[in-house]
Amino acid sequence: MSEKDKLDINNLPTHIAIIMDGNGRWAEEKGQDRLFGHLNGVESVRDIVEGAAEIGIQYLTLYAFSTENWDRPQEEVTGLMELLIDTIKKEVPTLNKNNIRLNVIGDTDMLPKGAQNELFEAIEQTAPNTGLNLIMALSYSSRWEIIHAAQRIANDAKNGKISPEEINQDRFKEYLTTSRFPDPELMIRTSGEFRISNFLLYQLAYTELYFTPTLWPDFRKENLYLAIQDYQQRERRFGKTGKQINTIKI
Ligand code: IPE
Ligand code: IPE
Ligand code: MG
Repeated sequence: MSEKDKLDINNLPTHIAIIMDGNGRWAEEKGQDRLFGHLNGVESVRDIVEGAAEIGIQYLTLYAFSTENWDRPQEEVTGLMELLIDTIKKEVPTLNKNNIRLNVIGDTDMLPKGAQNELFEAIEQTAPNTGLNLIMALSYSSRWEIIHAAQRIANDAKNGKISPEEINQDRFKEYLTTSRFPDPELMIRTSGEFRISNFLLYQLAYTELYFTPTLWPDFRKENLYLAIQDYQQRERRFGKTGKQINTIKI
């Protein structure tokens, strides 16, 4: 029985978020340049997007580049940016074939102008698709997102568009870059690091976290399905007692 067949299809997460980590170490282990790791990481992205679409996941957020990653050596930043944008552009026909809609979250103003244009073109070309929503977190950081939201709310308050009393969870959400997406039920981080690294701090409030030592370029569909199986064993209590949760289920 494959790992896919072991999944409970009635208890799949709607939204999975992944911190794709470990490309550099994967390459270094092989005596290769870090960019070689990123190149191989793209293969994992393809496989995971396909794997998620196959089982009917509706939202998949991939952390591809953080705002802090801009501080890496210039050579790595340039190589990685080129790879990301080039891949996105090349994948558009496959995304369309599989009814996948591309979305981006992050401070895209920081990207080179040419890259921004390519990115927005790809987003536009896949906009009519109704299957999996692939959300690339590019030049993303959660503190940037929250502060940006606070600035916009303050501006709207100043201009009389919103009053402070109206600010609740629903209204606040509208100001986040993830406003169109539900919170993830499952967050996976590869490469054995146990931290969030400025990823979806607000949205992960009740998300189940899954950490695996597997380095991103080695992460494949089967690994994704194992993570989902693990998620399916969890009892999500949202502050209630286990007994309350089980009574509601009956
Ligand atoms: C993840 O791999 C990809 C990005 C952060 C862009 P890393 O490049 O962080 O690889 P490690 O963590 O150094 O091995
Ligand atoms: C997080 O990985 C960002 C991405 C995967 C894009 P990092 O490798 O940048 O995180 P830290 O520095 O180990 O926390
Ligand atoms: Mg890393």
